[in-house]
Amino acid sequence: MSSPTDADVQTTDTTPTPATPSSRQLVVLISGSGSNLQALIDAQNTPALPNTSIALVLSNRKAAHGLVRATTASPPIPTAYLALQPYLRSNPGKTREDYDLELARIVLREKPDVVVLAGWMHIVSEPFLEALRGTREVKDEGQEQYESSSNNDENSVPTSPIPVINIHPALPGQFDGANAIQRGYEAFQRGEVDKLGVMVHRVVAEVDRGEPLIVREVPIEKGEPLEVYEERLHRVEWEIIVQATKRVLDEVKPLPLEGTENA
Ligand code: GRF
Repeated sequence: MSSPTDADVQTTDTTPTPATPSSRQLVVLISGSGSNLQALIDAQNTPALPNTSIALVLSNRKAAHGLVRATTASPPIPTAYLALQPYLRSNPGKTREDYDLELARIVLREKPDVVVLAGWMHIVSEPFLEALRGTREVKDEGQEQYESSSNNDENSVPTSPIPVINIHPALPGQFDGANAIQRGYEAFQRGEVDKLGVMVHRVVAEVDRGEPLIVREVPIEKGEPLEVYEERLHRVEWEIIVQATKRVLDEVKPLPLEGTENA
């Protein structure tokens, strides 16, 4: 197995993250602008997401602006970057499944309570989900295949399943997959659907089909520009991604009663 080439990697911030009192940890996966990540960054350790911090932001695109949002947050959030094609080029014989298990390994090292897919444009596979459920062991092969500014290099197998949730800009069963905003907008303008919306759902291997956690309709008007609808939709996303994350955290790791030790 070879290491990633210089062309595949770039130096990231290695500033140690100050110790945090947060007892609940998120790992957030992104591919792009990271506006939903920003909503989570802003909500950390506030009443919207009490006693919660983001342990790691993982991107599959080097140029994802969300990585900049993470490294410039206060305190800075560790980041990692691993893209499929450079991984496959650097590791002849490795497969898409190996890549997905490497992603799972990076996530598991942080021992998150919840994993949030916030604009993650890579189909989550069953092996990845099995690793997060703890039904599939992922061995640490002892060689870093990715670029990371996280200080946490422990190998880990979860002791209980780690929930994975995803934000998708459509109502349940509508417009699965990529470009859902534009496809929904065009379908509405053609009169094929009469309502549109966004949801946060639990992740299963079938794309955008896991159990919805929060569903919100987004108003749309005939003839309004796509950009106007899109802006309205994103504002709803920024609210529900935080609400759904809190709901799932409260299921898996409720806050301790005041005066008791953090779990
Ligand atoms: C969001 O609209 C999300 O619903 C979709 O991709 C977009 C990501 O935006 N899956 P951002 O990177 O969070 O700004």
